[in-house]
Amino acid sequence: MIQPKNLKTRASDESFCSLLVGFNFIFFTGLLAFMLFLPLQAVLFGSDAPHGTDASHEGVADASHDTTVEVPVAAVAVAVDPITHAAGKSAYMICSTCHGAEGEGNAALNAPALAGQDDWYLKRQLIKYKEGVRGSHPDDTHGMQMRAMAMTLADETKIDEVVAYIAQLPVTAPLATFDGDVAKGAASYALCAACHGPDGAGNELMNAPALQNLQDWYIVRQLQNYKSGVRGTHPKDIEGMQMRPMSMVLADEQAMKDVAAFINSKAAAK
Ligand code: HEC
Ligand code: HEC
Repeated sequence: MIQPKNLKTRASDESFCSLLVGFNFIFFTGLLAFMLFLPLQAVLFGSDAPHGTDASHEGVADASHDTTVEVPVAAVAVAVDPITHAAGKSAYMICSTCHGAEGEGNAALNAPALAGQDDWYLKRQLIKYKEGVRGSHPDDTHGMQMRAMAMTLADETKIDEVVAYIAQLPVTAPLATFDGDVAKGAASYALCAACHGPDGAGNELMNAPALQNLQDWYIVRQLQNYKSGVRGTHPKDIEGMQMRPMSMVLADEQAMKDVAAFINSKAAAK
């Protein structure tokens, strides 16, 4: 009479025990997988992932808090990342001594306006300066000055940060520093428009930068640099080599001044 009862109890004890073992196995395997996943998740998706889950109270999640900087991903998508902005702002401080506090340029220091320029072009030029693809020609005195400055940007992250900062600076239309014939400039600009766009706003697909907010003296100097081979002759300067033959069609300095005057007539304050 008792035996079946005992058996039944043993059986239920056993199944309860195996249930407990099974549960523990699943629970701890799951926990282990989650613990392993946390750092990976932080690397892949940023460190905000553990928030809002119970696990954020556990040691593992707290450890990941200590080592990573928290950036709310949703906020980055809608506004300028405050960390990148601060880093870019401090990196730009040295640049501002020549290019101006708002990237407006400084004729006395031969430094062109940077505000209003396309970010992809700024980045490419900074890399070219760093690698000596631009600014290493023995006659490129201004480029050499800039090359030394590009060297202060340690890596691509620093370049991205300073470029992101420049990209949000307000744009001011440059003032004319010489007389140019806008009508004659318009005629020669017809060729340039194919790459730089009808208003000189630039065209990334053609690798051609914005010209409209560059100072007239800088435009003329670059056209002379291309024509004389100070720029656009380095074997790795693919884009410069595309531009160089275009400078050849401008017969003399006056033709360059005319085209610069036309380009500046399209200057757009953004
Ligand atoms: C000592 C003065 C000086 C400082 C400081 C300086 N630059 Fe320059 N930069 C120049 C000059 C001069 C040129 C023009 C070179 C030329 O004429 O070819 C130039 C050109 C550039 C260009 C190319 C623009 C174009 O339209 O092709 C970029 C981009 C640039 N600078 C970014 C920077 C950044 C970013 C910093 C700070 C890390 C910086 N510069 C610091 C003097 C300076
Ligand atoms: C085949 C396409 C093409 C045509 C046409 C062309 N360009 Fe360019 N231009 C480029 C490219 C590409 C660059 C950028 C080179 C680099 O990234 O180093 C450039 C760069 C420049 C620069 C230097 C900008 C800076 O910020 O330093 C000036 C100035 C310029 N072009 C003016 C002109 C003028 C004026 C004409 C017409 C006479 C013209 N371009 C026609 C492709 C072109």
